[in-house]
Amino acid sequence: MGFNPLQEKGIPLEKQLRDWSSLNVKPYDKNDVHPYTRCRIIIMNGAEIEGAFFGHQFARHCDDIEIKRNIAMCRRVEQQQQKVVNWLVPANESPLEVTIGYEQVAVDLTAALAKREPHPVVKAALDFALLEDFDHLYRYANLLQMTKGIQAGDLVGKLTEITVGRPTISEHRHPFDEIRSHYSAAQSDIVTKLNVLTIVAAEQQTMNFYMNIGNRADTEIGRALYQEIAQIEEQHVTHYESLADPTMSWFMRDVLHQYSECYLYHSFIDQEPDERIRKIWEMHLDMEIGHLKASCEMMKKHEKRDPAEFLPDALPAPLIMESNIDYVRQVMAQQTDFNARGTEFVPGDQISSDYRYFDYQKMVNADWVPSQELIRQKIGKDKKDYRLEIKGPHPVKRFQKRDQVVR
Ligand SMILES: [Fe+2]
Ligand SMILES: [Fe+2]
Ligand SMILES: [Fe+2]
Ligand SMILES: [Fe+2]
Repeated sequence: MGFNPLQEKGIPLEKQLRDWSSLNVKPYDKNDVHPYTRCRIIIMNGAEIEGAFFGHQFARHCDDIEIKRNIAMCRRVEQQQQKVVNWLVPANESPLEVTIGYEQVAVDLTAALAKREPHPVVKAALDFALLEDFDHLYRYANLLQMTKGIQAGDLVGKLTEITVGRPTISEHRHPFDEIRSHYSAAQSDIVTKLNVLTIVAAEQQTMNFYMNIGNRADTEIGRALYQEIAQIEEQHVTHYESLADPTMSWFMRDVLHQYSECYLYHSFIDQEPDERIRKIWEMHLDMEIGHLKASCEMMKKHEKRDPAEFLPDALPAPLIMESNIDYVRQVMAQQTDFNARGTEFVPGDQISSDYRYFDYQKMVNADWVPSQELIRQKIGKDKKDYRLEIKGPHPVKRFQKRDQVVR
């Protein structure tokens, strides 16, 4: 029998508050942190931030003081959890180095979710955006190498390739073409619901991170690159959030948020090599069990609905952070030139030349595109771009040349 958080003891919500000294955790050592430990921290930070913001939105749409108090209690704890998780990141890891971690998350988390996603529309959406974040990793890695002399390959630990994806210049699309059709809450698998919640939290945190730290880059090209990629993260949040069934009640969404946090912490415990951090995942899992129970009680009381209706008897198979080089190469070979038309993904050559995509492209890409200019500067300096191609030449022939800017 698998792990059912509803059957576990956990820590009751009212016993979860911690004092300042237990919140002020020691950061990891950036020279020996496992790349996927860094990734798990980024994912859990994103999940906790989503938990806190969801709690605020729920409260703003609620006119019952008892419910508001329950939400406030739980949200205070989510905020404490977020501080513990995000304060594991050390000050000597620069925002750009952390950015490499964010885009490694966007590659290997997205691939992990796509590989097991049962819903065809959600799977297609994951594969589609995977190639875009894959390209962001390449652009930031070139910025890091060119401006700081640091090899992003050392940060990703040779677990993730770094090379041209769907070129960022081509990713800029009219907002109307980022809205997808959504799954049905009644008919879709719990894995689909968890996948969408997880990727929305991760992309939203990436969007917020670039919104805030993008202006910390100390070169003109760096500032410009963050601006450009930050707008794609806005597209990604639009794209992924539209996949979720908007007719779910606030209570149901609340329960799913807590279930998802249980699921993620539970998934990460066994794969975590850092014992100190594993203990944090274990403690937070026990706390999330408390949140889940509290949310289920609220749903039963106020909506007269039993969450057992839509929660399975056991958590799905764990989400594993692992290398996905072959998977990414395969999607790259098949879908590099895919584009979006309305809610659909289509090969780029099926988009007619008068489509709004081209008007939008002309508007934003007018005469200067930072993601292309960066590679031009890098090649000008070192005769070639920065890459980490572990399994041979690029799967797309036109991207194999390293001494010219391609698109
Ligand atoms: Fe949490
Ligand atoms: Fe990205
Ligand atoms: Fe993204
Ligand atoms: Fe929670």
